[in-house]
Amino acid sequence: MTNKLIVAPTMKAWVEQAVDHIVGQAKRAIQSKGRFSLVLSGGSTPKPVYQRLAEQDVSQQVNWGNIFLFWGDERGVPPNHPESNYRMAKESLLDHVPIPADNIFRIRGELPPAQAAEDYESRIKTFFTANEKRFDCILLGLGEDGHTASLFPGTPGLTVADRWVVENPHPATGSWRITLTYPAINATRSLLFLVTGENKAAIAADCIQNPNSPPDYPAKKITGSETRPIWLLDQTAASHIIGVN
Ligand code: 6PG
Repeated sequence: MTNKLIVAPTMKAWVEQAVDHIVGQAKRAIQSKGRFSLVLSGGSTPKPVYQRLAEQDVSQQVNWGNIFLFWGDERGVPPNHPESNYRMAKESLLDHVPIPADNIFRIRGELPPAQAAEDYESRIKTFFTANEKRFDCILLGLGEDGHTASLFPGTPGLTVADRWVVENPHPATGSWRITLTYPAINATRSLLFLVTGENKAAIAADCIQNPNSPPDYPAKKITGSETRPIWLLDQTAASHIIGVN
């Protein structure tokens, strides 16, 4: 399954493209089945997208009572920790939209890693129904080493095929992360990579243009199932892609 590339001319346009995709997916899911499950990405890249989603002219377009939020990964820290992906989303989005607390499926990074992973997986499975066993939309970041979520090169989490959530170590620091696995991510209906910045240009170009060639960066294994992954880049992140001016 090849990747679909969108290059936004400015950062403002990049944010609007991301928001339009998410809101469009939400409207379609809510119209067809009454609810929309969105998996948020961590790191710093998505923060302006979350902030835009929280602005009234956008947030009022959807019923937040029908939206259910998850995370693709979390650091092994409490929710108020500066490195918490939940904290970033709370400050930029959750505190500014009328989403019920029960609709927020925070990864409990304060728990021991294995317990946090089991707890999150259990809550995901309870959320799903017999007819709906996958997320509607997932937002994904890209690390300069080709990781996505907390699926880092050379780590055990890459080989997990029988679980949806696993604890996985950060290769440089050894600190624990809790992450969705390839099966969970690839089952998702709509997959959106959000990538900006010159520092991501080389790795993004390789992942997008050579998805089936070495090096087998973890992000290359994100193939989707029902639809092709969409890569939404700003001009700087797309600067190494052939044919993109
Ligand atoms: C995390 C993310 C991770 C992130 C990339 C890019 O917990 O850090 O889930 O996969 O998306 O590392 O991070 P930046 O957006 O900060 O460059």
